Amino acid sequence: MQTSPLAITGQHLGLCTVRAFSLCGLESTPIHVEVASRRGPSSFQLVGLAEAAVRESRVRTASALARLGVAVDEYALTVSLAPADLRKSGAGLDLAIAVAILGAVGRLPAASLDGFVVAGELSIDGVVRPVRGVLPLLEGARRAGLRRAIVPRGNAAEAGFALDLQVFSAATLEEVVAHFTGGQPLPTVPPGSFVPSARPLAEISEIRGQASAKRALEIAAAGEHNLILTGPPGSGKTLLARCLPALLPPLDWETALETTAIHSVAGLIDPARGIVDSPPFRAPHHTVSTPGLVGGGSHPRPGEVSLAHNGVLFLDELTEFRRSVLECLRQPLEEGCVRIARAQARATFAARPLVVAAMNPCPCGNWANPRRSCECTANERRRYLGRISGPLLDRMDLHVHVPPVDVGALNSDGPSPERARAEAARLKERVLRARAVQRRRMTQGLVQANSNARLTLSELRRVGRPAPDGERMLSAAVEAMGLSARAYVRILRVARTIADLDGAERIESVHVSEAVRCRLLDRALLPGGPLPGSAH
Ligand SMILES: Nc1ncnc2c1ncn2[C@@H]1O[C@H](COP(=O)(O)OP(=O)(O)O)[C@@H](O)[C@H]1O
Ligand SMILES: [Mg+2]
Repeated sequence: MQTSPLAITGQHLGLCTVRAFSLCGLESTPIHVEVASRRGPSSFQLVGLAEAAVRESRVRTASALARLGVAVDEYALTVSLAPADLRKSGAGLDLAIAVAILGAVGRLPAASLDGFVVAGELSIDGVVRPVRGVLPLLEGARRAGLRRAIVPRGNAAEAGFALDLQVFSAATLEEVVAHFTGGQPLPTVPPGSFVPSARPLAEISEIRGQASAKRALEIAAAGEHNLILTGPPGSGKTLLARCLPALLPPLDWETALETTAIHSVAGLIDPARGIVDSPPFRAPHHTVSTPGLVGGGSHPRPGEVSLAHNGVLFLDELTEFRRSVLECLRQPLEEGCVRIARAQARATFAARPLVVAAMNPCPCGNWANPRRSCECTANERRRYLGRISGPLLDRMDLHVHVPPVDVGALNSDGPSPERARAEAARLKERVLRARAVQRRRMTQGLVQANSNARLTLSELRRVGRPAPDGERMLSAAVEAMGLSARAYVRILRVARTIADLDGAERIESVHVSEAVRCRLLDRALLPGGPLPGSAH
């Protein structure tokens, strides 16, 4: 922060410190970029556990500085990244290093950098390139008491959502120099305005027929229940899943920022919007790797399950996924977060998506299709279903069979678009009302979580006790279907949601019976018994 021209053995010594931040997961750690310059034999020393990308910073900054007429080889430069024992990665420190060098060689009044945090990658021609994780980075800066920031112009929209900071955006190193030397000031980033997005991926009002699948989407959205859709190819499973994000309650400011931070670290923020403004929908291909799905890496990155946090994780063609990859979803789905622990870095990413899976019911896809006959043998079907991870299947509260809609129904006039839209609007309203009821139970301290899918057994005893005939019906169903204790709890949670959609305080037998029907599929798919491994 200060240039101290000292006379040491006749040589000019300049010092400059610039504040920067290094990200690990969603956590940003303060870094002091300290540069000492001397006239003398050319040298460029970088100390402080810099990884390859940071060490290469030397090449980029030297080239970018040369374009401003600063020849680094006229100086002996020592660049120190403190704290020395923290491993620094990525190119996001480039701009801070370049600015600190400019301060140390007297091209910038170093004192004017006071209170600034600087983030940005440099290209060799001095262009400031966007970086990942700007929002969590600025949050770290705010917590460290810094009040001003310089970010790449490409990150400006996102930086607009940072709190309590005056943020400037820079497109080139030259612009930064002009800002501090009395030339053109950098433009300040206007505060971002949060408008929840109204553009749905797909609209439930456009789906013909499929009453029970639509109802399942409604229940899933209302109570955050995971859902599995089975049906022949072309029956509309993918289309149905894509309708789900629009049925979820819109993100509020806080959840939008939380979601944005995760997407930011993954480098997935739309530079024009700067924020994730609606529930995300992530549909990883079935060839996805374990780190791709759950996150990982020595510089921890969130996986699809975290990118889908506050939204929908869609596992289309579930049986095609590698079983070992799906098994890794178990812990995140149980805990609502992914913990990544590496020798160098630890990170935790939230991971509470609504999971929707879709699959054909058998290898040929026509099992239980009234219009085509299935060619698979019982053994082939068993093997095929055996590919699904049992524990994952067990976490699916709702099982829905999606029969093909006949072409006649698709082509017929059906309900008018206005009627279909009005019906969809009523459905969304029921979902929002059911959500409000669940939130109220949480704020009243009756339960811990704001969705029925996360109720514990003891909470269910408090708020999810069915009326006596509902209780009898449930016991009979459990007995007849040979359901596990876990399946029993899941049925109760779903029954609570169905009652909430109904505006009912008490869970009646109609609610229980609908909840039981939502669970029937694991029996129906395999007449010989429940799916392999589903009773855990
Ligand atoms: N019930 C339906 N209402 C309207 N369109 C449908 C319906 N079912 C299927 N379609 C149409 O058929 C296409 C294929 O459906 P898709 O969701 O890909 O089927 P699946 O995933 O079951 O193979 C959809 O994009 C949609 O255009
Ligand atoms: Mg599909």
